[in-house]
Amino acid sequence: MLYVGIDLGTSSVKLLLMDEKGDIKKIVTREYDCQFPHPGWSEQDPYVWYEESMKGLKELVADCDKSQVAGISFGGQMHGLVILDENDAVIRPAILWNDSRTTEENDYLNNEIGKDKLSKYTANISFTGFTASKILWVRNKEPENFARIKKIMLPKDYLAYRLTGVNCTDYSDASGMLLLDVANKKWSKEMCEICHITEDMLPTLYESYDKVGTLLPHVATELGLSDQVIVAAGAGDNAAAAVATGTVGEGNCNISMGTSGTVFISSEKFGVDEHNALHSFDAADGGYHLMGCMLSAASCNKWWMDEIIGTKDYAAEQKDITKLGENHVYFLPYLMGERSPYNDPYARGTFIGMTMDTTRADMTQAVLEGVAFAFRDSIEVARSLGIKIEASKICGGGAKSPLWKTIMANVLNIRLDVLKTEEGPSMGGAMLAAVANGEYASVAEAAQAIVEVVDHVDPTPELAAKYEARYQQFRQVYPTVKELFPKLH
Ligand code: XUL
Repeated sequence: MLYVGIDLGTSSVKLLLMDEKGDIKKIVTREYDCQFPHPGWSEQDPYVWYEESMKGLKELVADCDKSQVAGISFGGQMHGLVILDENDAVIRPAILWNDSRTTEENDYLNNEIGKDKLSKYTANISFTGFTASKILWVRNKEPENFARIKKIMLPKDYLAYRLTGVNCTDYSDASGMLLLDVANKKWSKEMCEICHITEDMLPTLYESYDKVGTLLPHVATELGLSDQVIVAAGAGDNAAAAVATGTVGEGNCNISMGTSGTVFISSEKFGVDEHNALHSFDAADGGYHLMGCMLSAASCNKWWMDEIIGTKDYAAEQKDITKLGENHVYFLPYLMGERSPYNDPYARGTFIGMTMDTTRADMTQAVLEGVAFAFRDSIEVARSLGIKIEASKICGGGAKSPLWKTIMANVLNIRLDVLKTEEGPSMGGAMLAAVANGEYASVAEAAQAIVEVVDHVDPTPELAAKYEARYQQFRQVYPTVKELFPKLH
């Protein structure tokens, strides 16, 4: 049997076809743009997601035995607000996870409703990227749009709705809405009231590996597939990547170096970081996780390479970086503000420490190191909670660079396990579809059978010590400049 995983990302939709043993047969990527209509705003058109996903699906299954395609599922960019009217028309462009327009609504939730109440209702506090503050923003700033809302959904759930006609979501993705009682896996009545919405606007909740439906007949016909192909709920992209990297059960860690950067720590028991610097979410294996999220990770290097230096040859730029741990330039990677651990939508990217002998390679190195140091910030929060992290899986576009992996292993001073495939959310989505179709009894069983560690990157004591000293300097930069950021707007 064949299974499709759809990773509905921020820069592209990636579609992956695998067999029941987890062997990847084909990957198709279709890129699209993100709109930044005002500083700090970030939007996409859900119709484009659907159109590109359908084109991608057609290409993906074009030369396989279509009768073998048995299931489809998702890993999707989290937190995006998709709103539909009574005719199921998209009311406005989706407001994405890295959008920081909702500072006012975010302050209202955290300061007037209060972090204690939010944490009690949902296990989390508000961040500008989370969905609840966006609902309030639409109510405050676009009341005519708010009045038309009949359905509220997350990005991948819009795809599931178009493919199956079922308005569904899964617990991992729903966790990032600030509307879910994460501990008890149900919508929070209190949060619905606070956001002036009713529960019937929200999707039905499922486990990620649950079948939610089958392809609608017209969709099946368009794709040349059977209308018996099942669709499983899927997961938020980080929870799906955790499945693909075998980060399931108790105390495992995955680092995802995508557009965003996340540190994902799986757990069988529900737990909260009392300072809420890490998110407390449900996981795709039926359990829970703590997660630190940086809003700009591999995207910092993409920005530096594509927009500033003007090259697509990332490997060539990295060849000139030879003095690891000795750079005098520091980079704060807060190009879209920052979530973990600072929750500061005003934070901005910053270079500091350049001298007349600073080279282009030093600047590139500073970008790679700055991202690694920011990952370390989340790891330090986890360590302060008593969580021992001695090793982690690593996935995402940034993990393709051997140099960046070496920097990461030494900055974090942990072993990084490299997997046979770097595909995170798309692979996780396909695995969830296989579980939903009964190929495996559980997500843990699927991970055990499919995930394969093929290499390690170990820190070396000398380089880790150099980076330890540099990290101690890095962590002083943000507190020193942070008061300036709101004034720079
Ligand atoms: C996680 C988060 C990001 C997006 C990226 O909380 O906001 O990782 O899911 O797609």
